[in-house]
Amino acid sequence: MLLHRIKSVVVFSCLVTLLGCQTAPNFHTAEPTGLVGHQAMVVSARQEVSDIGLQVMAEGGNVFDAMVAVEMALAVAYPFAGSMGGGGFAVYRLADGETGALDFREKAPAAAHRDMYLDEEGNVIPGMSREGATAVGVPGTIAGIFAMHERFGTKPMAELLQPVIELAEKGVVVTEYQQGRLASAREKIAAVSGSGSKFAREFSVGEVVPRPALAESLRRIVAGGRDEFYKGEMAKQIAEFIQAKGGFVTAEDLANYQAAWRSPIQFHYKDLNIISMSPPSSGGITVQQILQMVEPFDVGQYEHNSLPMVQLLTEAERRAFADRNHFLGDPDYVDIPYAEMTAPDYLAERMASFSFEAATKSSEVGHGDLQTAESSETTHYSIVDPYGNALAATITINGAYGSKLFSDELGFFFNNEMDDFSAKPGVPNMFGLTGSEANSIAPGKRMLSSMTPTIAERDGKLFMLVGAPGGSTIITSVLQTILNVYEYGYSMQDAVNAPRFHHQWLPDVILFETEGFEASLLEALQAKGYTVNQGRSPVIGKVDAILVLEDGSLEGGADKRGDDAAAGF
Ligand code: DON
Repeated sequence: MLLHRIKSVVVFSCLVTLLGCQTAPNFHTAEPTGLVGHQAMVVSARQEVSDIGLQVMAEGGNVFDAMVAVEMALAVAYPFAGSMGGGGFAVYRLADGETGALDFREKAPAAAHRDMYLDEEGNVIPGMSREGATAVGVPGTIAGIFAMHERFGTKPMAELLQPVIELAEKGVVVTEYQQGRLASAREKIAAVSGSGSKFAREFSVGEVVPRPALAESLRRIVAGGRDEFYKGEMAKQIAEFIQAKGGFVTAEDLANYQAAWRSPIQFHYKDLNIISMSPPSSGGITVQQILQMVEPFDVGQYEHNSLPMVQLLTEAERRAFADRNHFLGDPDYVDIPYAEMTAPDYLAERMASFSFEAATKSSEVGHGDLQTAESSETTHYSIVDPYGNALAATITINGAYGSKLFSDELGFFFNNEMDDFSAKPGVPNMFGLTGSEANSIAPGKRMLSSMTPTIAERDGKLFMLVGAPGGSTIITSVLQTILNVYEYGYSMQDAVNAPRFHHQWLPDVILFETEGFEASLLEALQAKGYTVNQGRSPVIGKVDAILVLEDGSLEGGADKRGDDAAAGF
């Protein structure tokens, strides 16, 4: 207790002077415990997928060529989250240091409106934004791979997709994790897509599931290009299918869809330069707020996952998520007070009410008082190529198998991304996130995301790529992984595997993974007024990351929480 008090005093004086208390840790020296490659690496949710991406680079392709193959291979091997019917975000850094981001997030269809998920009394209609055709947003994935390929790709689409088509024809082995997930979703898939639908049956571990319909859709994409999906025969099929099931996406919505190039969020944390996803993802700004709120406290001085470390991160997370939920939405529709939200004085003032003595209550923390001109299953992959280019991408169809709406004809699931909008202010979505007007539904608008594909530079050089699935916990998983490496000297693999916790303002509870936290820590937190829950989220996030080691080689961090795997040479 006394030690904490002393630390509090030190921290307070740092806050007052904002000088001299921030230490940049020594260059990373931990022995790698993950796969090490010397030139190129892919880390993704499945070994088959990482292998396909690596093969593209072994044959001379770059990171963007690999991205195209990996993205579609995930649709084949990881239907839980990968699909042509979803969307995502990618952040890249070229070998010469140029950075950028691509937003291929789904959009609300033109027929969407603010109260579309409310009944006559103004109450949210259960399930309507989460399951079935009514939950589907206009998919962005195919637009995303074509935009990336057109700008940076070096190999023909047909060549890149050939191994993916072969994988779809051959089929993928059902792992234990996958079998469990399919079993949990089976009833819902059957209810939405029919009991005869491909994924509505029981699967056993070890069986091989070929995807001939998806292979045929991929062939059609190769032949007809982006237009096949958005304007061609496939667009017509998609729109007719969704509408026949009661949904809103039309052929016109598909024809109007465009991916958007965005400027990534860039900021410093000590001597790291962090490049992360900008709105309509909340990821980059929220990680920035949290890191910059904890920076004056020099988090590395506290033992990893110790009481003060958990308190410090929790309190910064609480304050950042309160701002996230209020201010953030699609930048094409709302003005986001980014400069004000990330101003050092503002962040210091937000942390002024924090004390190591007792928890702040979320009921006492609102969003910051900023002037605005008013007008959240997923998967991540990280890739580095032999030329020194890097790409981090997080993609999703939102829930497990998205809306559970599967087109047996086309061979893929459609997203339920509409649930990431705030259906009604103050009513939580499936990740317990409450939103405000900034994230209300409007035609053509993109729903706010928590996806946080992130690249960090150190000394002007590529340092780390990181990202995760997990809804709102993506943000805190990315944050903890960066701190595990940078502040605590963990290897990339150990940083990814380390136990995680999460707080998101509301509900006012710290979630802890089932493994890796002592009862005494939880009791100490409760004594300080925190509500804790261990087990509600048995695992938090599933991080796939790459670290550049001191000699320039690459260490993969493939999360032990799934079938995730690295491939490198
Ligand atoms: O964009 C978002 O924030 C959510 N749709 C992400 C969903 C997700 O991570 C689910 N995975 N567990």
